[in-house]
Amino acid sequence: MKKHLLSAADLTRGDALLVLRTAEELRSLADRPIKKLPALRGRTIVNLFFEDSTRTRISFEAAAKRLSADVINFSAKGSSLSKGESLKDTALTLEAMGADAVVVRHWASGAPHLLANAGWSRSSVINAGDGTHEHPTQALLDAFTMWRHLTADPGQGLDGRRVAIVGDILHSRVARSNALLLNTLGAEVTLVAPPTLLPYGVESWPVETSYDLDAVLPKSDVVMMLRVQKERMNLSGGGFFPTVREYSRRYGLDSRRMAQLQDHTIVMHPGPMNRGMEITADVADSKRSVIVEQVTNGVAVRMAVLYLLLGGNESAIGGARAEAGTEPSIPTTDGADA
Ligand code: NCD
Repeated sequence: MKKHLLSAADLTRGDALLVLRTAEELRSLADRPIKKLPALRGRTIVNLFFEDSTRTRISFEAAAKRLSADVINFSAKGSSLSKGESLKDTALTLEAMGADAVVVRHWASGAPHLLANAGWSRSSVINAGDGTHEHPTQALLDAFTMWRHLTADPGQGLDGRRVAIVGDILHSRVARSNALLLNTLGAEVTLVAPPTLLPYGVESWPVETSYDLDAVLPKSDVVMMLRVQKERMNLSGGGFFPTVREYSRRYGLDSRRMAQLQDHTIVMHPGPMNRGMEITADVADSKRSVIVEQVTNGVAVRMAVLYLLLGGNESAIGGARAEAGTEPSIPTTDGADA
């Protein structure tokens, strides 16, 4: 693995499979009464969030704590960032505090790259979402969720699996990172959106595109619905679609459309959802929906990423795969500080 995780393109197929396998081992921790490992004891991880977030920030915090790292949460509101402190001065402060890894979410595309490559700090940088650009750990947790449902073979990727990513692709860092990673893992991705919500230059992405959701659904093994990102649009003037109703009618997933899916097909959404817009409540809460599981898997995947970037090797967290079918021998702490 490289030192930083800035883009899904930073991951080779071998790296991606290593993250999936490591996450699979770590996921078993979620079902134990004591959910903690000593793997990153004494290491410091900073969550640096310039943009609002619920699940991603909490997920990274839970992941770091389950590995016994010290966690510092640093959000733009209530810190000197809101007084205009520059990214450089923030980086120097974090360096002075001895951060081993910085998890950064920023409204500007490219901010994590600047943090990683400007030479201000020695920490590993993990991109937790930059503008409309990338969100590589979301792509990893999505791939992990697909892999558990469709393959779950430690030596296999997602070869030949068909994934439809539907909706507001234009503003979605999740879509870009998924397109890159799923291609690395051998899946076939189709982006489905109205022409106004497909990004400029999408021809160079390793994907197919379609404007016709009903044509794509029956062929898909995975249907990933994306949030319509109203905060990045000006819906009052020059909107991207005529009305919300019209959008839902053509690109929303409701139970009528869900009936076209194959029996094994799963429905995903990175959250937060606009229930009633891109997805109806009955679909979001249906048996096919793995949306809550995505959140659970997010913690295991982020544990795997933190662990691997900070120099862990697979065998140090137990022999789960060596003894397939048996309880993994992951050492837990004595629980005193769990
Ligand atoms: C996504 C994000 O922030 O890019 N959400 C997330 O990380 N859980 C998608 C979104 O905001 O719609």
